[in-house]
This record gives sequence, C-alpha cells and structure tokens, in this order.
Amino acid sequence: MSKVYINNHPLVQHKISILRNKTTGTNEFRSLVGEIAMLMGYEALNDLPTEEVEVETPLETCMTEMISGRKMAIVPILRAGLGMVDGILNLVPASKVGHIGLYRDETTHTPVEYYCKLPSPIEERIIVVTDPMLATGGSAIDAISQIKKHGGKKIKFMCIIAAPEGLKALEEAHPDIQIYVGHLDRQLNSDAYICPGLGDAGDRIFGTK
Ligand code: URA
Repeated sequence: MSKVYINNHPLVQHKISILRNKTTGTNEFRSLVGEIAMLMGYEALNDLPTEEVEVETPLETCMTEMISGRKMAIVPILRAGLGMVDGILNLVPASKVGHIGLYRDETTHTPVEYYCKLPSPIEERIIVVTDPMLATGGSAIDAISQIKKHGGKKIKFMCIIAAPEGLKALEEAHPDIQIYVGHLDRQLNSDAYICPGLGDAGDRIFGTK
C-alpha cells in the first residue's frame, strides 16, 4: 500500500482552521494555501537525495551536503493545485513545473482531462503532484495515471484536506506513491464536497464563484 503521512503539526492545523472559516477572504486564503504547502513540503521532501560537495567557508574548506542529481517536478492539478506551487518552489526553486488540467463533471463527479504538459524527461524526477482537496480521489488517480504513462515513477501526492473515501481510492489505485495529507476530514457529502472541508478550494484561491 502507499505510504500515507497525515500531518499533525500545530502550525499546519492552525492555518487549515483559518482556511475553513467561511469569512476568510481570497488574499488570506491564497497566502495560507502557499504557506501550508511550504510547511508540508518541508516534511514531504525529507528524503531528497543529497551529495557531499566541497565548500570554502571564510575559515576553511569542508565537505558539506547539498541536494543532488535527481531533479524535481511539481505538477499541480488545475486549477486549485496551482495555489500550492509557489510554496514548494520556495523550498526547491530549481523544480520544473508541469500542469494537468482536469475538471469535475458536475453530474457524474468524474474527472475529465483537458490539458497535460509535463517536464521532459520525467523518468528520473521526483514528482510532487498537488491538489488542495482529495475528495473522491478521481482527479488525483487520473492525473497520476497520466504521469505514469509519460514515464513518471517517483511520485508524491500532496493535499491539504482529504476525505477518507478519496484517500482509500487513491491508495488502492496507486499503491506505489507517497501521500501527504494536511488533515483527514470526516466524509464526502452527496455533491462530493468534503465535510467539514473548506468549500471549493479553487473558487476560494482565485476569488471566483
Ligand atoms: N473540491 C473542492 O474544492 N472542495 C471539496 O470539498 C471537494 C472537492
């Protein structure tokens, strides 16, 4: 099964609580999504490979660690996943950014793909797929299948809030990935919204509706 990491850091939980509040405005919401992505990224990237390099300090020459070889790719699922990109780029500015466009059919709740552009080559990269809300899991499952079709192998999925139903579906569909969850919520409602959730993440990040 996939490795699932449920975050329990007080800073992340505090910021998620502010996101949930329906009176939190677009600017604050967008900033918080970026901050949470950065805090979660710090944990999710704790296995990045490093190598020893020689550095001359003002005092002497020493061997010291730096991130090595394998390059990273961040792949937001459009559109809400975009809100998490800058937070992770702050940590690893050399990352390439791919995009996968999926929208949810409002009646069937299934994902429909309309765009896929990934950095090439993708095979050797550590790939961080972002979507703030893991609801039914349909979009994440589909996006990760696309990435695998293009040759992606080392995949991490990062979401701010997950529903148990979506988490289970994603684990079953892609048992080889690592899944990072900011908070595991109670359930989906009949419209496939996460409860208690925070509403439509894309609308709240971009101020649409
Ligand atoms: N997408 C969202 O933005 N919110 C939900 O609750 C479910 C899916």
